[in-house]
Amino acid sequence: MCSIIGYKGNEHASTLLIEGLKKMEYRGYDSVGIATIKSGKLLIRKGVGKVAEVNKSLRLDELPGKLGIGHTRWATHGGIVDSNAHPHLACNSTIAVVHNGIIENYHELKDELYRSGHKFNSETDSEVIAHLLEEYFEITGDIRLSMIFTCKRLVGSFAFVAVFNSSTLCGARYDEPLIVGVGHDDYFLSSDILGFLNHTDRAIFLDNRDIVVINDSDISFFNFDGDRISRKITQVAWELGDADKGKYSHYTLKEIHEQHQTIVKSMDQDKKNLEKFCKIITDAKNVFITGSGTSYHSALIAKQIFSKSKIHVEPIMSSEFQYSADLLDENSVLLAISQSGETADVMHSVKSAKEMGAKVLSIVNIPTSSLARLSDSYLEVNCGPEIGVAATKSFTSQIALLYHVADLIGKKSNGIFASKDVLTKAIKQVLELDSHIESVANQIKGSKDIYILGRSLHFPICLEGALKIKELSYIHAEGMAAGELKHGPLALIDNNSIVIVIHPNDSTYGDTLSNIHTIKSRGAKIVGISNKKDEVYDYQITIPTINESLYPLIEIVPLQLLAYYLSICNNANPDYPRNLAKSVTVK
Ligand code: AGP
Ligand code: GLU
Repeated sequence: MCSIIGYKGNEHASTLLIEGLKKMEYRGYDSVGIATIKSGKLLIRKGVGKVAEVNKSLRLDELPGKLGIGHTRWATHGGIVDSNAHPHLACNSTIAVVHNGIIENYHELKDELYRSGHKFNSETDSEVIAHLLEEYFEITGDIRLSMIFTCKRLVGSFAFVAVFNSSTLCGARYDEPLIVGVGHDDYFLSSDILGFLNHTDRAIFLDNRDIVVINDSDISFFNFDGDRISRKITQVAWELGDADKGKYSHYTLKEIHEQHQTIVKSMDQDKKNLEKFCKIITDAKNVFITGSGTSYHSALIAKQIFSKSKIHVEPIMSSEFQYSADLLDENSVLLAISQSGETADVMHSVKSAKEMGAKVLSIVNIPTSSLARLSDSYLEVNCGPEIGVAATKSFTSQIALLYHVADLIGKKSNGIFASKDVLTKAIKQVLELDSHIESVANQIKGSKDIYILGRSLHFPICLEGALKIKELSYIHAEGMAAGELKHGPLALIDNNSIVIVIHPNDSTYGDTLSNIHTIKSRGAKIVGISNKKDEVYDYQITIPTINESLYPLIEIVPLQLLAYYLSICNNANPDYPRNLAKSVTVK
């Protein structure tokens, strides 16, 4: 969710700040701004829009100076207007701050600061940080103490970076990511390693309650209690920065087309690590599984896969987890699934589980993420950077890995490992339907509502397909268990309805076929995703025949492509859907 960056060194800061912000654009945002310091003077430019647009009109990258901070904002408090864009200044204009997250107690802090004479220029919660730093600096005359006192006053989630009195760059984190990039003779502070990976692969991952202060002579770390702490440098993989669109017009399309390779990579795990992970599951009395959005849909599939292997796992949506946390105890394990490993709802679930004494496992795409670092054991899905805001390849990688884990610990195997070649071939075959799916999208692009039906293992795929259509094309879509239609939603079906049915020739085939006839007789148009030809479909997307329990891995692909082409038909930008962020770090 939005990004922050800071730079102190010998290079032209604003160029590096803009470059870093562009690399992190995939995280989602609405406004952009930077501040630099030149000859002791703080210079600031900011506005609503994309980095390239605002840079073109305001020439952000021409701001002089070798110290600076930058921000892309995903508004939570205060409208999307220039004055609310970050950085925010303190009254005396010697301190500027960029912030990610939410300051929950900003109202009371603002009142208090007003009473001390501070003037505010924005409606954001973030601006209080600049004024608090100023207030404490006036009292103590010490940057380190001002940071510590300020952090102690903040309630909520935050990563913030501040430039302080002409030559110091500081940062602090609590429940939002912040990483230090260590160059030869310069430093970056960023919410994502992509913000500096073009310049250095040496990173220091700050922990919660860490403060970093970088001045002309050194870099030092403290916790919110004021104790000096040490933090180690980690070498991060350069290839994480290797994200370009290749021959595709969007990252999303490229990422959809990588899936025949990425699902195989997700099963390529270190043997010992995988054994440790599986043992924690088999040793547990209760297994809970959590995630948000797409990753929650993986959790729903996991329930079905694991139950086939006679293991009961209970999926709980991360945003709802706190209301069920009492179910966990020291004999429980919580398996958290998250592409980014930074989702606030997931992180909160994990913390509640830990408080109940449970063990935490995770499946992530970013091994350096907060979630991975908090887990007793984690597995990496290895699908490479996923830039498109909509999760595509990370989803199929998560479920391939979940099948693999279930097969290793279960009484009955789904046979995924042995089916690697078959699956690769099958996904490639579905990807070759690209232009056919584009033409189906063109036929149904005018619809206001799309329903997606399926049973059993296909039901979570219906939910995931509907999520993809909503977020990419802005068309209302709803995934439903096919058998539930007659219990209410049938009232909505008429001859303007489009119903997509996930309908492979498996044990669900007959029952779903009856549902299709019920819908068809009410005039709806049917899009069938099936390996069996049938005239009942108005449009058919033919998928190959594979091992029955592995269909979810291939049937989601046509839905992703359909969502992508519906987005193009509706002139939306599939890589950056409106109002959404890649990594949702607020609750
Ligand atoms: C998926 O297309 C969405 N962008 C969103 O639902 C996402 O899956 C969710 O926010 C969870 O993200 P995570 O996997 O990084 O935790
Ligand atoms: N809450 C702050 C705002 O609305 C920061 C949001 C963000 O993380 O970008 O400006």
